[in-house]
Amino acid sequence: MKILLIGRTGQLGSSILAERTNHTIIAPARSELDIESMASCERAIDGSCPDVVINTAAFHNVPQCEIEPLKAFDVNCIAIRNLAAICAKRNVRLITFSTDYVFGGEKRTPYREDDRTGPLQIYGISRLAGEFSALAMAPDHATIIRTCGLYGLSGANSKGGNFVDKRIADAKTIKKLEMGSDQVVSPTHAGDLAKAVLQMIEHPQLTPGIYHLVNEGECTWFEFTRAIYELMELDTSVTPVDRGGRSGEMRRPRYSALANVKVRELGIVMPHWRNALERYLDDKYGLHNT
Ligand SMILES: NC(=O)c1ccc[n+]([C@@H]2O[C@H](COP(=O)([O-])OP(=O)(O)OC[C@H]3O[C@@H](n4cnc5c(N)ncnc54)[C@H](OP(=O)(O)O)[C@@H]3O)[C@@H](O)[C@H]2O)c1
Repeated sequence: MKILLIGRTGQLGSSILAERTNHTIIAPARSELDIESMASCERAIDGSCPDVVINTAAFHNVPQCEIEPLKAFDVNCIAIRNLAAICAKRNVRLITFSTDYVFGGEKRTPYREDDRTGPLQIYGISRLAGEFSALAMAPDHATIIRTCGLYGLSGANSKGGNFVDKRIADAKTIKKLEMGSDQVVSPTHAGDLAKAVLQMIEHPQLTPGIYHLVNEGECTWFEFTRAIYELMELDTSVTPVDRGGRSGEMRRPRYSALANVKVRELGIVMPHWRNALERYLDDKYGLHNT
């Protein structure tokens, strides 16, 4: 299969590139393919004639989306709409990503793909609009994968590094840390996500539509931080703090763990978040070397 990958420098994009696969992956630089430019998307797709486009690009700095709502809609909705239209016209499959933040957080069991959405901030609203746009323009070609709390070996430059690496950096200078216990999430290893995405596109029964894909299980950011420090044997103490799902004026879902209902039906099973975290820490920091 020939795959055109958008976002090669990102956590997920670089993890997909790092996978051993028989597929041909073409991964242009952002200077060659900017999803905000329809002409550059058309040029890249017509120049490479892929079977599948995997788009990992997004504007996903959540507080920044409140400050730049037009940019949020340009990247997360209009660009996705255009990409979907280009793919549908050329009979190319599109795999693109979305977020747990399309949900409002009122549930206490993991959200299924068909659960009611209710985003609480511009970021989630722009992503949900992107989902609708992709499905409206390419109902037979677009697969949307919602994921959550990604951390990958390349870090996330757009967010100033990923959550795990930031907590490890914190532990170098901070002995007592407060961490949110008011959001329940499904943190996900970008490497596990990359493997599962490739399994999905290889699967003969993959249909267009919305899928959830996260490491199994759920935890608060407080519990996740405690697990990082336990596994790394760092002595920074972590205290849970309930901020009521708020960052200043902006609301975040208090509960947004996702259930991998549809990928399980394809026989794709994701590892538990704790197992994923342990592998990540070992690969990046050499957990079992001492
Ligand atoms: N990270 C999370 O916690 C999280 C949670 C839920 C969902 N997701 C979704 O999962 C997907 C992958 O996330 P990630 O963490 O891998 O993201 P990431 O590390 O921020 O990588 C994004 C990639 O897209 C590129 N990009 C950004 N804007 C672009 C544009 N206009 N045109 C072309 N390329 C552009 C970036 O290039 P530069 O290097 O030039 O910036 C980078 O290579 C995204 O859709 C994201 O929203 C992520």
